[in-house]
Amino acid sequence: MRPAYHYAPAANWLSDPNGLVYHKGEWHLFYQYNPHGEDWGHMSWGHAVSPDLVTWQELPVALAEDERYMIFSGSAVIDSANTAGFGAEAMVAIYTGHARTEPANQAQCIASSTDNGRSWTKYPGNPVIDRGLADFRDPNVFWHEPTRRWIMVVVLSNEQRGVIYASHDLKQWDELSIIHGANAPGEIWECPLLIELPVEASGESRWVFKVDVLRGGPGSGAIYQTGTFDGIRFHADGPVFEPRWQVADYGSDFYAAIAWHAPRDSQDRPAWIGWMGNHTYQGRLPKQGWRGAMSLLRRLSLRRRGGSLVLVQTAEIGLTSQVPSRSAADSVIPSACRIELPRDRDFAYSIGDRADSLIRIERRGADLFVTRRDPGNSSLDDVRRAQVAAGADLQVWIDSGSIELLGAHGELSLTVQHRLSGSTYQSQFLPGNPA
Ligand code: FRU
Repeated sequence: MRPAYHYAPAANWLSDPNGLVYHKGEWHLFYQYNPHGEDWGHMSWGHAVSPDLVTWQELPVALAEDERYMIFSGSAVIDSANTAGFGAEAMVAIYTGHARTEPANQAQCIASSTDNGRSWTKYPGNPVIDRGLADFRDPNVFWHEPTRRWIMVVVLSNEQRGVIYASHDLKQWDELSIIHGANAPGEIWECPLLIELPVEASGESRWVFKVDVLRGGPGSGAIYQTGTFDGIRFHADGPVFEPRWQVADYGSDFYAAIAWHAPRDSQDRPAWIGWMGNHTYQGRLPKQGWRGAMSLLRRLSLRRRGGSLVLVQTAEIGLTSQVPSRSAADSVIPSACRIELPRDRDFAYSIGDRADSLIRIERRGADLFVTRRDPGNSSLDDVRRAQVAAGADLQVWIDSGSIELLGAHGELSLTVQHRLSGSTYQSQFLPGNPA
């Protein structure tokens, strides 16, 4: 069964969202895509557009690999002032070219489109940044109004470091500063994001630096720091020598998320989306015609919690009316629905195929456990754990292929793929002690 309300391509491999940009009434979702099969490879940018962030239309491949490079992850901007000279309102993609031949090299490249992302011209002067490195990728670019220039954050993956660059024309880039990975868990940095977010109910804003760690990271690998950005440097909140890293998702399958920097909603919140996948086992999931889907679209903000700021992720409002709501007490549920789980007691809630429970969500005091059992491959069995305060709300968004738990008014996110099949699932709710 294909997911009902998550984006998945008609065929082939999908991973990271790329080039999230809005232009002339269309939200563009580009993504890591293999046009030739369901395994990772031949990386190119697939493309879909949406009028409302709810329904998506798949378009032909936007940027295909060429003889020199695979097209790795990156971002896109609308060059309203024609700073790059590609034309008024040109859409410019900034991506990593991954060399297909020796020596191993990753370098930052650009391409432009003047027909709303339908056709693209790779810049003949590519690459625009080359440090002669094998692991240097995933540029995320935005317009920084206070200094009136483009800012890029990109990672030196094997060194667990981010680099911030600036440019006036998207072609000539100057290095400004380094984001050090002091205290960061795990290794191999990918897909950075530097973004200013509103702090709820304060009229203030704060910056977030998010990065994904490929190996050994907590949760799905997405970790972040809050802080300030002065146009040159990111200053993390907290003690300088022991910066604190927080976890954006406690499941196994929320990776490489990036945001549409603009436009924002009425509360100034940008939307972001992640790949519901995990490099450690994605290639072992059975082939079903396509492989990989995007997460729910979530609005982002920050909330004060004790002395720190935490990321808040709220499902895009348009999805709420689209996805039917069901009760945790129902013994049969549609494969696409959302369920409010009790906040006032412990419980075990399981979803399965006939007699088999394949996903089990357990709340025991402040502990939340999510267990996945795979019907065919026990190496995919997994248990994830997170904390959720007594009395905190908890919703589970169920779709074919995934569940996403969002709780504590968006402070908790836990995303897990599953392999339940069919258009309905059996579910069972077992109450435990009152909270
Ligand atoms: C993250 C990632 C990126 C890279 C891309 C290649 O999933 O490994 O670092 O650009 O995928 O497909």
